[in-house]
Amino acid sequence: VARGPAAHLFCHEERGPEPTLLLVHGFPFDGRMWEPQVEALRGRFRLLAPDLWGFGRSAPPHHPPSIESQAEGLEWMLSDLGVARAVLCGFSMGGYVGLAFAARFPERLSGLVLADTRAGADSAEGRATRTESARRALREGPGFLADTMPEKLLSKMTFDSRLGLVGRIQTLIRDQPREGVAAALLAMRDRPDRSAELGRVTCPTLVLCGAEDAISPPAEMRAMADAIPGARYAEIPGAGHLSNIENPNAFNRELMAFLSLILEGYFVGKS
Ligand code: MLT
Repeated sequence: VARGPAAHLFCHEERGPEPTLLLVHGFPFDGRMWEPQVEALRGRFRLLAPDLWGFGRSAPPHHPPSIESQAEGLEWMLSDLGVARAVLCGFSMGGYVGLAFAARFPERLSGLVLADTRAGADSAEGRATRTESARRALREGPGFLADTMPEKLLSKMTFDSRLGLVGRIQTLIRDQPREGVAAALLAMRDRPDRSAELGRVTCPTLVLCGAEDAISPPAEMRAMADAIPGARYAEIPGAGHLSNIENPNAFNRELMAFLSLILEGYFVGKS
């Protein structure tokens, strides 16, 4: 899709009217995790669902890997595609990238959606686990993540009863290159605490959280929304962490309502 520093950043694109919606995937997935949103929003807005460096069909990440360099890659990609401003919707790790993007390139955002993500950094224990998981991913590939993550990513009800969905998630995880998975673990391990920056987010913001998200729980996400001036907060019922996949109807409804408010100029004067 791109030349220069953004070379080999693969991006699934659907043409449509403004605003452009830039969908940034979580770990350890690629742009295909947004299929339920692409299906529902196709033709209504211009959609961009890239694979971050190291994932899917994109090139390996920069060294040392960082969340910031992923945000830079997206900004280069937008330039190459001639997109001046976009609504960035980031899920989990994609939200870490979204917050880094908002701090670095605020003029590029006409809106921000933070789904099932966090502003804080990892704990010491979490950092140690990331290092160990990165070593293991390099050694064995992402199979162990495909075996262990779905139970944590999904609500108990989904995990116990929707075996097809669990299988699709496992396939998506197994498809990811081991070097990219390891690099992303180190990038997440080393990401800074951005809590103090939330008050400086100037664009219209929507915070979405699966009602049963155990990784970025509702109380934490509600506090994140409270810290961002004017941010809206909504919970996705019947969903754990992977709220956009578990309950796409509710997720898409909230997303579309937010995009409509942006289109109608509801937030004019805010950004
Ligand atoms: C994700 O869903 O992107 C991950 O759970 C994020 C993380 O491990 O911090």
